[in-house]
Amino acid sequence: MKQEATDVDGQGESAAMDAEFDTVAAWTADVALDLGPEHHVPAGCRGSGGPAALHWFLDRLAPEPRATFLDVGAGVGGPAGFAAQEAGVRPVLTEPQAGACRAARRLFGVPVVQAGSALPVRDASVDVGWCLGVLCTVADQPAFVAELRRVLAPGARLGLLVYVAERADVADAPEGNHFPTADGLARLLDGAGLDVEDSAHLADFAGTPALWQERADAVDAELERRHGDDPRWRTAEEQSGRIGRLIASGEVRGTMLVVRPRPVRTSRPA
Ligand SMILES: C[S@@+](CC[C@H](N)C(=O)[O-])C[C@H]1O[C@@H](n2cnc3c(N)ncnc32)[C@H](O)[C@@H]1O
Repeated sequence: MKQEATDVDGQGESAAMDAEFDTVAAWTADVALDLGPEHHVPAGCRGSGGPAALHWFLDRLAPEPRATFLDVGAGVGGPAGFAAQEAGVRPVLTEPQAGACRAARRLFGVPVVQAGSALPVRDASVDVGWCLGVLCTVADQPAFVAELRRVLAPGARLGLLVYVAERADVADAPEGNHFPTADGLARLLDGAGLDVEDSAHLADFAGTPALWQERADAVDAELERRHGDDPRWRTAEEQSGRIGRLIASGEVRGTMLVVRPRPVRTSRPA
């Protein structure tokens, strides 16, 4: 995979999303670095579930050790750090928010390209990767999914975690979030030429292990101690509270998919 350019297309620019994915992402790295390396992965997984779900993906994506592993919309980089630790891959991250890009570099020492939906990646050059909790934060979902398809090499596998709505009209969604329905998601993937190889639901995985949760909680507590009075912290908390309530009520659920690019048929002369 070759990185061609730095390209930010302005996705996710609302103040609420900036607070959550830029400012708080940068603060999270400060806190996790102060608390110690065992806090980095739990601090850096924002919206991607715990180790059981990440292992489900890694088992099915089956990357070769030292394979280049693309993480699109990588946030603070926890899932990429986890993949490097557990599967020995070499992650390459894309992420539109500058604060999150810096956080991922500082926490995990990985290459991060600041980019939104326009991926600075050559056509058909990616063999394996994932995109976790990102699709519902993107306004132009057909273009985003088509871009994912564009960069996948023949036979590639991509993990997707998508928050899917039970019904089209979700009340009180976090600002800037657009949850597809299950049918809408199936149409999106089909329209882009992506076939689903395997699927699961985030809720079916055992809760986060106690130690992981303790570390994530310690990071949150320290973030609140340092920034609890800052309106950007309160905005980010309100955003994550909203999605938490939608998941708890069953209106939205985490759908995990492994997709592969549909082979392109070439018509042979008669
Ligand atoms: C819920 S977070 C998930 C972060 C990370 N994947 C994880 O699981 O911890 C969603 C991320 O998607 C990023 N994002 C928003 N719009 C994007 C786009 N058009 N392309 C790529 N990433 C985007 C946000 O900046 C944010 O970091």
